[in-house]
Amino acid sequence: MTSAILLVGGRGTRLSPITDQIPKPMLPIAGLPVTEHQILAAKKAGVKTLVLATSYLAEVFTPYFGDGSKWGIDLRYAIEKEPLGTGGAIAHAAAELNESEKETVLIFNGDVISDHDISAQIATHQKSSADVTLHLIQVEDARAFGSVPTDSQGRVIAFLEKMDQPITNWINAGCYIFNRAVIDSIPRGIVTSVERETFPALISADRRIFGYKENSYWLDIGTPLALFKASRDRVKARFSAHPTAHIDSSALLSGGTFIGAQATIASGATLDNCIVSEGAVVAESAHLSRCFLAPGAIVKSNAVYKDRYMSIEKNLPITFI
Ligand code: GDD
Ligand code: MG
Repeated sequence: MTSAILLVGGRGTRLSPITDQIPKPMLPIAGLPVTEHQILAAKKAGVKTLVLATSYLAEVFTPYFGDGSKWGIDLRYAIEKEPLGTGGAIAHAAAELNESEKETVLIFNGDVISDHDISAQIATHQKSSADVTLHLIQVEDARAFGSVPTDSQGRVIAFLEKMDQPITNWINAGCYIFNRAVIDSIPRGIVTSVERETFPALISADRRIFGYKENSYWLDIGTPLALFKASRDRVKARFSAHPTAHIDSSALLSGGTFIGAQATIASGATLDNCIVSEGAVVAESAHLSRCFLAPGAIVKSNAVYKDRYMSIEKNLPITFI
């Protein structure tokens, strides 16, 4: 396994207004963008070349990730002028890889935090001589996901994206291993969905599509509820802070709150399950719960907010569905 494609071009509508300026994959979870968590996981599985398939707010990724050398990875960018859908994005990004780099490609939905064993998924792919191997996890309610029934050998028998009555609660966890032939078969320059078009077509054509089942920690951060849950889960303590943050000793931080670089939390402030970006300031005795502070946001003293998004220009409610 030498290469990967991360699908980071979606609009992130369900996370508006947070995603109006920050693309979903760049949202910080325990101080690191989701994309960085994925780059680290890919690297651990031996990935050396990685393409970011961007579209919406594409310009935000490059200043942070550069050429990838900071992570010891060869990082490339494929920018779609108009979003090409998940399939079109894969075909477009694959053009950045040479023939040998395309041999076996790891593909990640860019909004997923997953602790599953990517190396074991690759091993399953090779053992089953599969064309595509999908990571599957079991959830209570599969309606918001791709429902993926398999046979006793683990072979995928159908791919049913977002059904009212899913036939199994094993779902597509958004991490795939693709063979070159499959990547090359996706039409270029056309809007296509892997979930609604490519996978069902491959299954109908009797291609070898397999599931790799592993129920480890997994979360799609695509809704406000999931974003704040992921942050709480990954901070793994009452709070965590960047070493350059200034936090007054009388401030009370809880619920997996994260305080970013150069941010300031003044005396008597309380923050529960909040995400505070770099350079943000929370003044004396402000009380915040489940708030997202964008870089440089300022919260006045004695302010009381719950479920809010604050940036330099905006202060808006976040709707938790
Ligand atoms: N480059 C690019 N271009 N990326 C895209 C595009 C596009 O046109 N459209 C979506 N993406 C990226 C999004 O940024 C996201 O990281 C990923 O593709 C999946 O899109 P979502 O919009 O988050 O899809 P979803 O969460 O409703 O459903 C998908 O993920 C589920 C697991 O979280 C599907 O793959 C489901 O089958 C799956 O169960
Ligand atoms: Mg998603």
